Amino acid sequence: MAVRAIRRMGDPLLWARAQEVTDISAEVLAGLVGDMKDTMAAFHGAGLAAPQIGVPLRVVIFGVHANPRYPQASDVPETILVNPIIEPLDDGLEEAWEGCLSVPGMRGLVPRYRRVRYRGFDIDGREIVREVEGFHARVVQHECDHLDGILYPARIRDLKFFGYESVLFPEGIVGDDAQ
Ligand code: NI
Repeated sequence: MAVRAIRRMGDPLLWARAQEVTDISAEVLAGLVGDMKDTMAAFHGAGLAAPQIGVPLRVVIFGVHANPRYPQASDVPETILVNPIIEPLDDGLEEAWEGCLSVPGMRGLVPRYRRVRYRGFDIDGREIVREVEGFHARVVQHECDHLDGILYPARIRDLKFFGYESVLFPEGIVGDDAQ
């Protein structure tokens, strides 16, 4: 497995819709996911989508371990999702700060559905269905947006709340979670 270069905003591939995984071999899929895990770990991400390493397929990974120093950052299980689908459970939105490994050094205040159901397949083809809320729901919406060619700055309602993290948060960020 290998740490791969992360595509950054400006690269047209990040604005393109990724393709469903259909006839890819288990070995190739395992290699892709292995590279994604290594890359996410190397850059301390909370999640990563395949297009971010230049592979236009509908595969995302995410996972956050709650840190006792940051009690507000909830635990999100280590998850691999192939061909994910998200449905909001109601119309409720909430705004929170997000970062992205493809938009390094920046943060923005992004509205997301508070409660969602997501489904997809793990690397062995087993179906995953979960109903989640809050930070977990936010992470999965951010990652799946990458598969539809949407970067979080496109969802910011007021660009006054988009900027350099060193300016917005001079004291440092609580619960760093770039995705
Ligand atoms: Ni991202």
